[in-house]
Amino acid sequence: MKQATATKKEDTAHTYPRSVDCNGTEVQIDLLRAGDEAELLAFAQSLPEHDLLFMSRDIGQPRVVKAWIRESVELRRMPSLLARANGRVIGCTALMHDDHSWSPHVGELRAVVGAEARGLGLGRQLIQEAFTQALASGLDKLMAQMTTDQRGAIALFESMGFRPEALLAGHVRDRSGRKHDIVVLSHDVAAVQGRMAVMGLGE
Ligand SMILES: CC(C)(COP(=O)(O)OP(=O)(O)OC[C@H]1O[C@@H](n2cnc3c(N)ncnc32)[C@H](O)[C@@H]1OP(=O)(O)O)[C@@H](O)C(=O)NCCC(=O)NCCS
Repeated sequence: MKQATATKKEDTAHTYPRSVDCNGTEVQIDLLRAGDEAELLAFAQSLPEHDLLFMSRDIGQPRVVKAWIRESVELRRMPSLLARANGRVIGCTALMHDDHSWSPHVGELRAVVGAEARGLGLGRQLIQEAFTQALASGLDKLMAQMTTDQRGAIALFESMGFRPEALLAGHVRDRSGRKHDIVVLSHDVAAVQGRMAVMGLGE
């Protein structure tokens, strides 16, 4: 079953780096680390602008990447992963959540894979890894947002149990000034865990 579901929190944390097979390509998945700034920035700048619109900030800007690494590595508030093949970054994830907000149980999952590495199964593997990090953090609900024309991304998240929850019209504006709609998908991790436990499938 492809749908990402939950097990006990203490069983869920993965150790990194780990290698995964993506359609015959060996991919190393590792935690984002302090020395990764230049590589991450180069990867972000290689992506078409449209693939970055689902993020609240433009990760093609050095100061945004610097702040991301500080949040993730120094402050340990945003678990993030990098995927590399042949030593080059080809994808990344970030899990945003704020223990001090009124939604400490909610996380937002972000994932992007470089155009040349798409369709190999890496996006699914990365989202599963980030989902595992969310479970290990004890989050009950996960969100993901993307522009409504990212059909592949929507299909992928839906196949993992996410469901559309909101449509935000004209919510992001690209560098040329054009506005785009955003769809918010969510996954009620706690409810799925509960249903599985009732069916005796909790493990
Ligand atoms: C979403 C994204 C990470 C997926 O990466 P990927 O490595 O190509 O994904 P995968 O190869 O694991 O494909 C996952 C599934 O989506 C399906 N898929 C891919 N593109 C599709 C499309 N246009 N329509 C329908 N399904 C599609 C694949 O067939 C695959 O299904 P399967 O596992 O049943 O075979 C990538 O497209 C991306 O970076 N998009 C831009 C950023 C974005 O919008 N991110 C989402 C916001 S969090």
